[in-house]
Amino acid sequence: MDRFLIEGPCTLHGSVRVSGAKNAVLPLMAATLISRGRSRIRNVPRLRDTRTMARVLETLGAKVRFEGDLLEIDTRDARGIEAPYDLVKTMRASIYVLGPTLARHREARVSLPGGCAWGPRPVDLHLQGMEALGAKVRIEGGYIEARADRLRGAEFSFELSSVGATANVLMAAVVAEGRTVLENAAREPEVTQLAEALVASGARIEGVGSTRLEIEGVEELSPLDVTVIPDRIEAGTFLAAAALLHSEIEVRGLRRDHLEATIEALEQTGCTFTEKDGGQTLVAHGQNARRGVDLVTRPFPGFATDMQAQMMAVACCMEGTSVIADTIYPDRFTHVAEIRRLGADIRLDGNSAVIRGVDRLAGAPVMATDLRASAALILAGLAAEGTTLVDRVYHIDRGYEDIEEKLHGLGATIERVAGPPTP
Ligand code: UD1
Repeated sequence: MDRFLIEGPCTLHGSVRVSGAKNAVLPLMAATLISRGRSRIRNVPRLRDTRTMARVLETLGAKVRFEGDLLEIDTRDARGIEAPYDLVKTMRASIYVLGPTLARHREARVSLPGGCAWGPRPVDLHLQGMEALGAKVRIEGGYIEARADRLRGAEFSFELSSVGATANVLMAAVVAEGRTVLENAAREPEVTQLAEALVASGARIEGVGSTRLEIEGVEELSPLDVTVIPDRIEAGTFLAAAALLHSEIEVRGLRRDHLEATIEALEQTGCTFTEKDGGQTLVAHGQNARRGVDLVTRPFPGFATDMQAQMMAVACCMEGTSVIADTIYPDRFTHVAEIRRLGADIRLDGNSAVIRGVDRLAGAPVMATDLRASAALILAGLAAEGTTLVDRVYHIDRGYEDIEEKLHGLGATIERVAGPPTP
């Protein structure tokens, strides 16, 4: 199992380019199943999760070809209806094939994803949405089995704002018979991109980018041709690094309008930003970032839960007390015990972490527990004096493309080393 060996503390400088968004490309890949033909997706990040989704699609009979950052998916022979446990258990987002498969084949069998490191993460809203469209859904042998002779448009309101459930139900509704209204829909940029890509393929959707989506079902869609939006979480992670390491770096190829909440949080520390290229490049000036932050995670355009762990790493080294609350995943704090190993002062109180800034962190061996926790540990390791060894970096390979090369390019001392074989 690979590990990262980090020597800190370091100051970053230079420029880095953001890759395509993991959370945008996964639903787009699944959406190719709705139509019969050859879809093209550009700016695809090379990640473990994109390879896993490719395997899910291949299991369903699609032909998948990566060529650089271009992905071609041919769904003409995609006749399969089952996403097996072995794949789904490694990536929850496999559940995105439920809506498209049900829409195209009138039945789907998708392994029920299990829990994850920080909580149960149910899929009830996905299933309720499919049922609202007329599907019969049952759980049998650990699988979600959904059937519908005909999907029919319906009015459905999500009890909670859910990115995954909104995307899944939307993918089924675009080819359902008649009109669907989705209330309290998620409007994260990744959902908006999916809706826009579906519209470009012939879907009829009103209210794209809002919490109310009105869909008029069409007979069929044409294949997708889409360029993946930049990864706002990857971009935010680099901007956070600038504040934490009192550095000035340029982050290219991002969308500022997707990053306002992160920028606001980082501005609390004293970090400032200069915009270039019409909002596609941000220079983060972190030299005077000293103050603590208070923030609460919320659905977009609020502060993203996927940036919570990284902001906590920043807060650990700021002056005074910071309070970070996660309302999306109240238990998403597995990184806390690990960052504490570096000397951070963090107290948990329900869904909040109270962080008292310390003068220095000291390197230590730590273990990554999930994707964003890994990013936080890398950031903390870069700020800590001495050597930090981050174990289980396979988590980070799920969602950050070439992270060590990119940080290396910014002047960080970080190296991937092979760990001992898994027992
Ligand atoms: C997506 C992102 C993930 C991010 C999360 C929240 C992908 C592949 N993953 O995950 O990185 O952290 O959005 O922004 O895009 N919920 C239910 N029932 C459901 C579905 C969700 O109760 O059926 C709850 C969840 O437990 C959570 C909240 O709704 O409390 C939001 O979760 P959701 O937006 O669905 O997250 P994902 O789509 O799984």
